[in-house]
Amino acid sequence: MSGPAATGALPATLTLVGAGKMGFALLQGWAARGLAGAGVTVLEPHPTKDVTALCTDRGFRLNPPVGQGPAPESLVLAIKPQMLESVAPSLVQRMAPGALVVSILAGKAVATIAARLPAATAIVRAMPNTPAAIGRGVTGAFANAAVSETQRRLAHALLASVGAVEWVESEELIDAVTAVSGCGPAYVFYFVEALAQAGAAVGLPADLAARLARATLIGSGELLHRSAGVSPETLRQNVTSPGGATAAALEVLMARQGLIELLARAAAAAKRRAGELSG
Ligand SMILES: NC(=O)c1ccc[n+]([C@@H]2O[C@H](COP(=O)([O-])OP(=O)(O)OC[C@H]3O[C@@H](n4cnc5c(N)ncnc54)[C@H](OP(=O)(O)O)[C@@H]3O)[C@@H](O)[C@H]2O)c1
Repeated sequence: MSGPAATGALPATLTLVGAGKMGFALLQGWAARGLAGAGVTVLEPHPTKDVTALCTDRGFRLNPPVGQGPAPESLVLAIKPQMLESVAPSLVQRMAPGALVVSILAGKAVATIAARLPAATAIVRAMPNTPAAIGRGVTGAFANAAVSETQRRLAHALLASVGAVEWVESEELIDAVTAVSGCGPAYVFYFVEALAQAGAAVGLPADLAARLARATLIGSGELLHRSAGVSPETLRQNVTSPGGATAAALEVLMARQGLIELLARAAAAAKRRAGELSG
């Protein structure tokens, strides 16, 4: 299965390990989709007020002792990647064999997760991106062969609560996903910085150039978002009159060694580095 899949129901029993930025975004997404009750366990050594309030409001168990509550059918790992080794032993008793493990840990291969969590066989490795914090992320996900169709739908539902989900059929492609959508928000923010600098270079006060660049990105992104079925190429052509000012700028951006080559090199560097870090 690749591309968007039908969003299934959220699991009734679930443990979230790590309620930091990304974990909390997921938790909020699940709560917004009606998840509630003591079947949900949140493990987080230093819960923020917001995490505690959400758990209280939805009846989730926050840091219950081992053995309290049902063994979850799904476990979502949202700790820092470097914490996996030290946290994994404490999870062994909290897992039923065969439970689905969904990991969003950057650079942690399925084989590494399986080695750290011996009870884990069905593993989904996912790479979300920062707009997940506002429910507008996109996550690339890979399921190993032990993940059943039902579990894949569960994982899809869990990840879809913070945005779109795209499945890849080989784990190596997660590094490529990282290079595009995982790192992509930083490219886009840098584009805004660069456009602001370009604005200053053509004579605008720096603060005005920064506001124009920011608003342009936000508005164009929203226009793209609302133009379902219209390609970015068509949207670009719609605002490019032959011989006009936009065309003059695009001629520079689209020249040989222009933006396409630059981004290709950037994405290749990100993919290479992601692969090295996954080691
Ligand atoms: N943020 C992103 O845009 C993004 C994108 C893609 C993937 N990811 C992945 O998402 C994961 C989380 O990233 P993040 O940005 O959300 O990091 P984060 O804010 O640092 O969240 C990690 C959370 O795990 C908690 N934790 C530490 N030890 C724990 C334990 N023994 N049991 C349970 N929880 C524990 C941490 O608590 P303390 O702070 O108290 O130690 C922290 O709240 C990372 O693996 C990252 O690779 C993030």
